[in-house]
Amino acid sequence: MQSYMNHMKMQKVTETLKFLARKALVACPAVMAAALTGQSNAAEFANFTQTIPGSTVKFDMVAIPEGEVTIGSPENEAGRDKADQAQKKVKVKRFWMGKCEVTWDEFLPYVFVSQSEVAKFENKLEGIIDKDGCTHPTKPYGSVYRDRGEKGSNPAIGMGWPNALNYTKWLSKKTGRHYRLPTEEEWEYACRAGATTTYFWGDDAAQAKEYAWFKDNAGEGTHLVGKLKPNKFGLYDITGNVGEWCLKADPKAPGVLRGGAWTEETSKLRSAARMVEVEEWNENDPQSPQSIWWLSAADFTGLRVVCDEESGDAAAAAAPATAAAPAADAKPAAAANGDVKALYLAQCKGCHGETGKGDTKIGKAKGARDYTTEAVKATYDEAKWVEAIKNGIEKDGKHLMSAYKDKLTEEQIKALAQYMKSL
Ligand code: HEC
Repeated sequence: MQSYMNHMKMQKVTETLKFLARKALVACPAVMAAALTGQSNAAEFANFTQTIPGSTVKFDMVAIPEGEVTIGSPENEAGRDKADQAQKKVKVKRFWMGKCEVTWDEFLPYVFVSQSEVAKFENKLEGIIDKDGCTHPTKPYGSVYRDRGEKGSNPAIGMGWPNALNYTKWLSKKTGRHYRLPTEEEWEYACRAGATTTYFWGDDAAQAKEYAWFKDNAGEGTHLVGKLKPNKFGLYDITGNVGEWCLKADPKAPGVLRGGAWTEETSKLRSAARMVEVEEWNENDPQSPQSIWWLSAADFTGLRVVCDEESGDAAAAAAPATAAAPAADAKPAAAANGDVKALYLAQCKGCHGETGKGDTKIGKAKGARDYTTEAVKATYDEAKWVEAIKNGIEKDGKHLMSAYKDKLTEEQIKALAQYMKSL
């Protein structure tokens, strides 16, 4: 009986995962197009700040350079666990990682996108498809916060693996960038930040309280993100506070959390430590079937997102304004055409193309028009174009173009609008 129940549960989970995967294909075409085509730009790899479109919520992404790392733990490491992996050298491509764990401020717009609809579909396994075309989780059983920290900057907790995965799909759809969970290799590379020791700060467990919220210093719940010391990459709470879901190679395998959590001993803060999902994490969910979105007895699951170059836009948005731009005290509007062109190539080429045809992979995915045609030139309206470049473009909740008002001067923006008309 027990194993039959498990079988049924597994089947349900598998079905739901397939459903989520199908959803991602049909509901997020722009993201998929960007993912399929890919684009990167070596010169433009820097930290950036992401605003969630339609809200004032922002979070920071840290550029993690490519490199090599030995993951796993040596046999003689203090606190070693049988869930640890054997040591292995791996190469990791560069990517961006959330400076902090995903907070309630970031997670709730996804959970409660439409309170009435969530209520209507309450506790249905399938979740809901909102008008933004993405799946949203069912309402959790009981309080979403579980009395473990309700401030906007407390990390979101209690989500199951499919829910964490689905959040990254929703975020990708919202922003037009390719967000996902980290692989375990990426996670460990980012956590170690060059360190080969037991913990990212060294081998001394007594120093844990300077870097991590865990059993000895956390008290009864999570803590606001970003309050303790970061690791060498500038990642905060990469150990402790909440465990962070990682991607899994086999969707049927149990999920894995990395980094330990506020509930755990220092041994779980080790860079190689892994917390493998068990049924007990959902043991006091009275619903039948149990929710796959929330784990009723796991007040320590959380996530940290990564963004990769399957969307070249992250690189475009991250480009330092000064890359090829004239010095701030120069007068770009009056400057030679060559300077405006350099500025255009540094900031705008990624989507609008070298010659303005919008023929780059990411430009096509986002629907950039061909600025060399009379039809597009005819739509020229300096004030309107300047406005668009200043404030960026969001359409139907989708991120099309970043705002440049903090990166470029008024003159530079005007010159660029005129330059685009002249293409
Ligand atoms: C991430 C991709 C992307 C980048 C980078 C980008 N744009 Fe755009 N831009 C778009 C898309 C998509 C549109 C909407 C379709 C179109 O009009 O081509 C757009 C529209 C525009 C428009 C038309 C606005 C209107 O009201 O019709 C202007 C002007 C423009 N962009 C200028 C620029 C300039 C200047 C830069 C560089 C500083 C730039 N863009 C960088 C994607 C981008």
